[in-house]
Amino acid sequence: MTLVTAANLQKTYCSGDVPVKAIRGVDFVIQEASFVSFVGPSGSGKSTLLNMIGCLDKPTSGRLEVAGREVNRLDRREAARFRGENIGFIFQDFNLIPVLTVFENIEYPLQMVQEWPASRRRPQVEKMLAAVGMAEQARKYPHQISGGQKQRVAVARALVTHAKLVLADEPTANLDRETALKIIGLMKQMRDDFGTTFVFSTHDPKIVANAETVFTLEDGKVVTRDNKEAGNV
Ligand SMILES: Nc1ncnc2c1ncn2[C@@H]1O[C@H](COP(=O)(O)OP(=O)(O)OP(=O)(O)O)[C@@H](O)[C@H]1O
Ligand SMILES: [Mg+2]
Repeated sequence: MTLVTAANLQKTYCSGDVPVKAIRGVDFVIQEASFVSFVGPSGSGKSTLLNMIGCLDKPTSGRLEVAGREVNRLDRREAARFRGENIGFIFQDFNLIPVLTVFENIEYPLQMVQEWPASRRRPQVEKMLAAVGMAEQARKYPHQISGGQKQRVAVARALVTHAKLVLADEPTANLDRETALKIIGLMKQMRDDFGTTFVFSTHDPKIVANAETVFTLEDGKVVTRDNKEAGNV
C-alpha cells in the first residue's frame, strides 16, 4: 500500500526580501512499512520536505497525499488532528519541552493527543525509556541531559504512540555508534511489529544502509532514486 504520494511538489519561502525556492517540483511515492531516506547537501530541502509530509508546512503547489488524505487541503485544525493521529516526529533540534521531565516529555503525546489514561501511559513510557536506555534519567529535565540523550528522548517520544508514519530529521546525528545502532534496531522492530513507515533525512551511512529507498536531493530537486534489494534490509 502507498502511504505518501508527492506529485510536482513545490515549496517557495516568501519570508524575506527574495523568495527562496526550497523544493522545485519533486515526485515520489513511499510505501507502507518501509524505510526511506532523503539525503543531500545542507540546504537541499530535506527538512522542508519532511515538514510538508508531516503537515507542519504547506506546499506552494503540487499534490501531496498522506495516508489517503490530500494534506495540502487541510486547514490548521485538521492538520493538527491528522498529525496527532498519524505522525510521529523526531526534529533536527529535538523540540523537547523544557518544563517537562524526560518521562513527561515521552508521556506527552499519549496524554495530550491520544488521551490514554495514566494507568496505561506509565508502562508504555517505561517501555520506551528502557528501549532508548534512558530509564535512569526519567526524572531529569532536558537542560540536565546531554545532546545525545535529548535525541534518545525525542526518538522515544516519536515512537511511543505507534504512529503510522515517523518522520525523523537526522535522528542519529548526535549519537555514538552503539546507541545509533540500537535505535535503528528499535525502529526496524517497530516496522516489523506495527507496520510503521520511517522517513529519514540523514547523512548517517548506518541509516542509509538500512533504507530500502534512498532519494538524493540537490537544490530542491530529487536527482537520484536508489531502490535497493529487499534482501538488503
Ligand atoms: N522558514 C524558512 N524561511 C525561508 N527560507 C527557508 C526556511 N526554511 C528553510 N529555508 C531555505 O530553504 C532551503 C532548504 O532548507 P532546508 O532546511 O529544507 O534544507 P536541509 O536540506 O534540511 O539542510 P540541512 O542539511 O542543513 O538541515 C535553504 O535554502 C534554506 O535556507
Ligand atoms: Mg535540515
